[in-house]
Amino acid sequence: MPTVSLSTSKPTTAQADVLILGVRGDDDKGELAATLDLLGFTGEKGQTARFPSGGLVKAPVVIAIALPDEPTAEDLRRAAAKGVRAAKNAASVALALHPAGVDEVEAIAEGVALGSYRYDTYKTKPTDAKTSVELTSAVILTPFARQTTATKALDRAATVADAVNTARDWVNTPPGDKRPADLVEAFVAHVNGTDAAQDVKVTVWDEKRLAKESCGGILGVGQGSDSPPRLVTLAYEPDEAVAHLALVGKGITFDSGGLSIKPGASMQTMKLDMAGAAAVVAATVAIARLGLPIKVTAYACLAENMPSGRATRPGDVLRMRSGATVEVHNTDAEGRLVLADGLALAAEGSPDHIVDVATLTGACMVALGQHTAGILGNDDAFGETVFAASKAAGESMWPLPITEEMKGAVTSSSIADLRQHNPKPYGGTLFAAAFLREFVGETSWAHLDIAGPSFNDGSAFDYTPVGGTGSGVRTLVRLASELAGAR
Ligand code: BES
Ligand code: ZN
Ligand code: ZN
Repeated sequence: MPTVSLSTSKPTTAQADVLILGVRGDDDKGELAATLDLLGFTGEKGQTARFPSGGLVKAPVVIAIALPDEPTAEDLRRAAAKGVRAAKNAASVALALHPAGVDEVEAIAEGVALGSYRYDTYKTKPTDAKTSVELTSAVILTPFARQTTATKALDRAATVADAVNTARDWVNTPPGDKRPADLVEAFVAHVNGTDAAQDVKVTVWDEKRLAKESCGGILGVGQGSDSPPRLVTLAYEPDEAVAHLALVGKGITFDSGGLSIKPGASMQTMKLDMAGAAAVVAATVAIARLGLPIKVTAYACLAENMPSGRATRPGDVLRMRSGATVEVHNTDAEGRLVLADGLALAAEGSPDHIVDVATLTGACMVALGQHTAGILGNDDAFGETVFAASKAAGESMWPLPITEEMKGAVTSSSIADLRQHNPKPYGGTLFAAAFLREFVGETSWAHLDIAGPSFNDGSAFDYTPVGGTGSGVRTLVRLASELAGAR
């Protein structure tokens, strides 16, 4: 990640390879007005122009980005990322995006760090996406540069962006290189590699321990794979905690569908299916690094969903951690089975709230598209809090209901307590949430279905790269800040 600093310099005198200039109207154009007019830069939101400055400003290249008159933090987060991505081979950039306050400075810093993300672990040669020069420094121009609140905002942005980028790395890792035991190693290495190592306790349950602990959901999904399942628990428990938040993440390291095998095309991106686990682990570490006064217990439910002679069959009945029995109808609806055990364990810890994050249903993408997560749950007030946190964090999410009709559907198995899969082809996201609800008891709970936004299979835009996006991380950190009274 580039180092980000603050300066009170004027755009004209800023020292950098590229000046990223936000343009809200004619006033911001300054000495560049004639050039921008020649280039047909009208100032329509999202428009950009890139040109050599010809000595009009100190930076040799200018990237102008049109902004609304009163840009929101999210507008600036996107503009900063867009500018940084357009700056290609620049080693340094200066951003003149006119932040109205410290929150906006923080958003710009996040945009820089998120927009300069690249996943090149498996590239052996530079390509378009991996240019020869890396951005090493970015300076944000703002009159608040000397305020300590602004410096703190930079630190916060770096911690949050690091968490998002870490979750992206995990999602982007090829599935053969992140089977459950590998992912455990990656999680442990991440915790130990940060300044939160002392504050976050990690516990790992292997398949034997999972059996002893009656986690029939996680075991049932993982039993078809040669690489057995794991449950990773992270505990951050500061002395001054004012609340307890439990997080549960779906961690299917590869979702082949199991015996209810997916068609080839739908399987192509299924390394993404651990994005929920990646989000809860990365967010917990960020919360600890920020020192937020809130207890967080995170459960990452890791399994590889594979077909084999040992795999769970449609028709099998699983005995879950909660004691409930579940009749399996479709082994491709595996996420709810691993989450059920994670949620039951979370509820046993009597937290104030539980949030689970999961790439759970294709139906959620049918409902909300590829860039918006669904929010469901059993507590309207808490759902509103999560929704507000998502808006403040700049992540697109939208509430969906758990309807009465789904309650009847989940309890309609003729041979077990619960039925795993909707008998009807409608409302798959709602059914899945109704199923999960059976495992949280009375605990206040929200479910984030990130099937759409967790992975970008199109081209990069704003701060969203191709591949893993780190969806959910910013909302979780924001939510924890709010519950901790730190915002
Ligand atoms: N991991 C998938 C959901 C998914 C689909 C995530 C596309 C991201 C992109 C999940 O395990 C799954 O296969 N769900 C099935 C459920 C069905 C069998 C009830 C689905 O959505 O088709
Ligand atoms: Zn599946
Ligand atoms: Zn899945």
